[in-house]
Amino acid sequence: MEDLSNYRKSYEKSELLETNIPEDPIMLFKKWFHEVEDFGGVEEVNAMTVSTIGLDGFPKARVVLLKQFTYEGFIFYTNYDSEKGRAIANNPNVCLSFFWHSLERQIIIKGRVRKIAENLSDGYFESRPDGSKLGAIVSNQSEVIASRTVLEEKLKQLEADCVGKEILRPKNWGGYIVEPQEVEFWQGRPNRLHDRIRYKLNTDFSWKIERLAP
Ligand SMILES: Cc1cc2nc3c(=O)[nH]c(=O)nc-3n(C[C@H](O)[C@H](O)[C@H](O)COP(=O)(O)O)c2cc1C
Repeated sequence: MEDLSNYRKSYEKSELLETNIPEDPIMLFKKWFHEVEDFGGVEEVNAMTVSTIGLDGFPKARVVLLKQFTYEGFIFYTNYDSEKGRAIANNPNVCLSFFWHSLERQIIIKGRVRKIAENLSDGYFESRPDGSKLGAIVSNQSEVIASRTVLEEKLKQLEADCVGKEILRPKNWGGYIVEPQEVEFWQGRPNRLHDRIRYKLNTDFSWKIERLAP
């Protein structure tokens, strides 16, 4: 047995107080994101966990990269026919989460997800290096494949076919935007008395701000 019960740490890096927060969670997200970036020590600050409710009834979480965020929501790119894509088509309620250990921070976002406009996905696909474009085309993400060799052969073939040609976005690859309904900011504090501030979207699109017990 590996006993991890003595893995324990006191959280002392920061605090989150009602007197010092904006009315809008996106503003606070932006502030935290850049503070974590500037502090250093987190390799991919934009890596986030996306949880979906699958067709099998189980939740499933996996890491993707946040590529844009605006007052409307959080955008990531993926294969629309993947396991997550199929889960989303069936149930658009998702959860995003970030854990930034350097500043002892966690953000949990519940929201509804929808595909972004095709021209926006085209624009982002166009900006990717050729290798990433071809990778997105050859991979039927989440499908069972016979071997790695099959994938590599497919890529080689596609590379040969595409020489001198424009590589277009496959229709089953593109962006999703998660429109937040609830955003919880968690700041680690000493003695397990962590700060938790939750923003909940009101029907008039203002945000209700509440403190939660740690
Ligand atoms: C750091 C990191 C970043 C990733 N970024 C993406 C991404 O932006 N889009 C994506 O589709 N998969 C990304 N992946 C792979 C996903 O975690 C996952 O394996 C893939 O999307 C298939 O998930 P699914 O079968 O549940 O649909 C990333 C993985 C890691 C570890």
